[in-house]
Amino acid sequence: MKKLLFLLIFTIILLLILSYFWGVSPDKPNYEYAPDMARSEAFQTQTPNPFLPNGQTQQNPVKGTVPQNYQPLHFDLTEKDFIRAGRELLNPHKKPEDYLKRGEKIYRIYCQVCHGASGKGNGKVVQRGYPPPPSLLADRSKKLKDGQIFYVITYGFKNMPSYSSQIERDDRWSVIDFIRKLQESQP
Ligand code: HEC
Repeated sequence: MKKLLFLLIFTIILLLILSYFWGVSPDKPNYEYAPDMARSEAFQTQTPNPFLPNGQTQQNPVKGTVPQNYQPLHFDLTEKDFIRAGRELLNPHKKPEDYLKRGEKIYRIYCQVCHGASGKGNGKVVQRGYPPPPSLLADRSKKLKDGQIFYVITYGFKNMPSYSSQIERDDRWSVIDFIRKLQESQP
């Protein structure tokens, strides 16, 4: 009987020692009995997925979704829509003089390379052979409505590329305020 008890205690101690060396590792989860779906399979965003529509993990946004603070525009690249833009897109800046500083900054960064420092259409890129734009100080440009210039910046215009991805809406209006100022200051 004594012998049996000794054997039992010895085995328990041996098991404890063994489990200390083998079982417990702080880097790994311990043995788990019946986890009851505590963990589910994590799918990566751009991987196939048998459970979701189209068999893909990342779902398309609902039709007609627009990003927050984004206002869609509905104009086509036609002469008719260019004129309509002049009627429908109105400059929201009540006091344009407040936006001149910002507008000038945008102009110097994005427009000056072609349109030149004073808007005459002789920027650096043009001196290297890019088709020259008409002077922004000419009568034709002066007569363009703010909305039409907004349209030109947003969609591009013949030889001029679109700047909609570089210049956000409010900055487009600011640069228009600045162009008006240029036109006033140089008759
Ligand atoms: C890569 C050169 C280039 C850049 C940069 C550029 N433009 Fe132009 N822009 C042109 C050209 C070229 C035209 C003439 C388009 C044509 O008739 O083929 C033009 C035309 C225009 C017109 C119409 C002028 C008119 O009388 O018909 C406006 C307004 C205008 N640009 C504004 C801007 C503004 C504002 C920026 C900056 C956000 C800008 N452009 C940046 C090349 C450029």
